[in-house]
Amino acid sequence: MTSPSSTSDREKVVSKLPPWLRQELKIRTAQLRVDIQDAVHQGIAHWSALASAPSPVDTSGAESFSTWLPAGQWESFRTHSKERGVSLIQGLAQAVQLWLEMNPAPTVQRPSVVRRIVVCNQKGGVGKTAITAGTAEALAEDPHTLHPVRIARQLARLTAEPEDHQHHQHHQHHHTEPASSAFDREDLPGLGMRVLLVDFDPQGHLTKQLGQQPMPIGGDSLTCHMAGEAKGPLSDLIVPVEDERFGDRLHLLPSCTDAFLLDVRLSTVRAREAALERALAPVESDYDVILVDCPPSLGLSMDAAIYYGRRRDTEQPGASGALIVVQAEDSSADAYDLLTSQINDLRDDLSLDIDYLGLVVNLYDGRRGYIATSSLQAWMDIKDPRVVAVVPDLKEQREAVRLKQPLFVYAPKGDQAVALRALAREIS
Ligand SMILES: Nc1ncnc2c1ncn2[C@@H]1O[C@H](COP(=O)(O)OP(=O)(O)O)[C@@H](O)[C@H]1O
Ligand SMILES: [Mg+2]
Repeated sequence: MTSPSSTSDREKVVSKLPPWLRQELKIRTAQLRVDIQDAVHQGIAHWSALASAPSPVDTSGAESFSTWLPAGQWESFRTHSKERGVSLIQGLAQAVQLWLEMNPAPTVQRPSVVRRIVVCNQKGGVGKTAITAGTAEALAEDPHTLHPVRIARQLARLTAEPEDHQHHQHHQHHHTEPASSAFDREDLPGLGMRVLLVDFDPQGHLTKQLGQQPMPIGGDSLTCHMAGEAKGPLSDLIVPVEDERFGDRLHLLPSCTDAFLLDVRLSTVRAREAALERALAPVESDYDVILVDCPPSLGLSMDAAIYYGRRRDTEQPGASGALIVVQAEDSSADAYDLLTSQINDLRDDLSLDIDYLGLVVNLYDGRRGYIATSSLQAWMDIKDPRVVAVVPDLKEQREAVRLKQPLFVYAPKGDQAVALRALAREIS
């Protein structure tokens, strides 16, 4: 970000900054989406315009720092520093400090209506749980530190090539293969959302993967709340997913095996499709985003989850809805057709607005050749819903599950986390 778009009107300046100040500058400029060179330029301009030098900054341990400034600014800054009797390094530190004070960190923009993301596909093993957890972790990450994010170049390149499609049958297909080494990364601040993960699958994979215990049978559970038979508040069941990077923003509503009997328990309940919504309503104000990890079935629980993700009256299209996880193989297409017809039926029968947030093509491995690349292309060709992420098949995901650690704690800089951060931003 420090290299100028055009060098003709800027000159390279080499000086020194203490590492902590340089880091703050890097984070703040990323948070505000401005170039470091522009921030330094503004800081020096403001510093020079002050009546006198501000209080000194501790510059011990200052290390080499270079940037690009408009021609002449550094020369006049040198003169100003001399007049004020401060060293260039001290002057620059004061200028950067001044810019930081004048440009405070932005506050996190919270949605006015809690966003509800329903991660679904009745096919098991496609990665719903992995994608749900990873997206939630990305949404909850610390907004005051920077995290590597995969930038969109790859997806743009893949979608830009449909006219080449025919040729793939006769030629080598390797140019559509997302070689993970080719991905660009950009360090961006975390999204800082308050996130609730709902383990809505009676198998409890999400709960166990995060190192938590499913709720014991016989006590209160989400099922009890949905059936209107709970003794205590739902918030009593929620547990934090603890790690410094999530602060206290990431929570889990664990599963309970009583959810296997959900259909029976709800048989006497009125408006059963609204049961999940009624159960979660009391805790909604504590969160910005609620993600529901759906079971691999098309039953009543699926209806309740989709109903919960419908667009509310005061909500923007695309803020809440269904996120569908698929794989780049032929059997995924039939499952997808069944799922979308159920969603469309629900939409028509109950006159609901149900948005698709997108398709996630998971466990992608372009080395599998034409089957993989052509099915990926088929998903891309759907357009609505659009492919919002292609997530590679990587061992770090399986390892994190095995170790019962959140992926973002186990491998925060791995390609998997980097891809999931991009996904979280793509659907925000
Ligand atoms: N992108 C990925 N790369 C590698 N392994 C993955 C990936 N996504 C999911 N997995 C693994 O595949 C298995 C099934 O994933 P899971 O999320 O449980 O699927 P689902 O919830 O759809 O049944 C798990 O062992 C999981 O760790
Ligand atoms: Mg699952």
